[in-house]
Amino acid sequence: MANPLYCRSFISIQDLSPEAIDLILERARTMEHDVRCRRSIVRVPDRIMIRAFYEASTHTTISFGVAMLRLGGQVIGLDGGIKSSSVAKGETFEDAIETLSCMGDILAVRDKTVESARVASTVSRVPVVNSGNGVGEHPTQALLDLYTIRERLPNADYLVVTMVGDLKHGRTVHSLTQLLGLMYGKRVMLNLVSPQALKMPTEIKRRARAMRMSLKEHDALTNHLVRETDVLYVTRVQKERFTDIREYEALVDSYVVTMPLIHRCKKSLVIMHPFPRVYEIDRAIDKTPFAAYFTQIENGVYVRMAILDLILRPSA
Ligand code: NCD
Repeated sequence: MANPLYCRSFISIQDLSPEAIDLILERARTMEHDVRCRRSIVRVPDRIMIRAFYEASTHTTISFGVAMLRLGGQVIGLDGGIKSSSVAKGETFEDAIETLSCMGDILAVRDKTVESARVASTVSRVPVVNSGNGVGEHPTQALLDLYTIRERLPNADYLVVTMVGDLKHGRTVHSLTQLLGLMYGKRVMLNLVSPQALKMPTEIKRRARAMRMSLKEHDALTNHLVRETDVLYVTRVQKERFTDIREYEALVDSYVVTMPLIHRCKKSLVIMHPFPRVYEIDRAIDKTPFAAYFTQIENGVYVRMAILDLILRPSA
């Protein structure tokens, strides 16, 4: 197949076809194999990635950096975010992005506004990879999530996925819902568990239904629901998105995954979290075979290696 990612920005799950997604996940498997076998993977030795992250990050910023370094490329970042960039002197976001794009071969961009990723891809002279656009999307995270689901449940042709927590502000669940819809359609049952104030946006639910997914909304995370679940996807209540801290405090510990809650779950249950976690998953869960969140972090490197490789090199 021709390489549909070559020289293109990657902003939303909606930019990809199922074939392109399979291509990324297959390439990620090759990357995983090569990294584990300590093979030298010099695919983009002359290329430079610039990370423009204007929002806090541990996992994603390092994951993109490590992915590029493992491909033999170079990385430079605005790691102090907005405070250390000329945006603090009044420079517009557009000018900042175009300036950076004159110096590198690819930009990884994270910003607090939803429009940022599309705007960046319009002004940038090189491809942009959306690394989180406010409460919008986080498409590379969704791909690493799907990679992890397929690795853990290789033979599943029907999935019951239960997403829990801040589904309103959680961009990872916005992207993952669309990705599951695209790849599994009516072979997914999606349970959405959140307080009333943090429900999944209507537009994301509309897109999921248009892809023939079954959706059910719940306000409680019960043993019964967990017992039916194949993938339990837990998210953090996003403090930084609230204007009134009292509203946050009222919701922060709405759902906590504990050992009693997963009592009698399926043996193959996969518990996922995009990280950072705050209180949502009891640490006792980490030692169970259900916990997949550290595997997600490792897989993120392979999936981002695949995406960067496909954007930077023409051959599929
Ligand atoms: C998340 C994010 O920034 O969207 N983490 C991540 O990138 N893996 C989730 C969060 O901040 O809660």
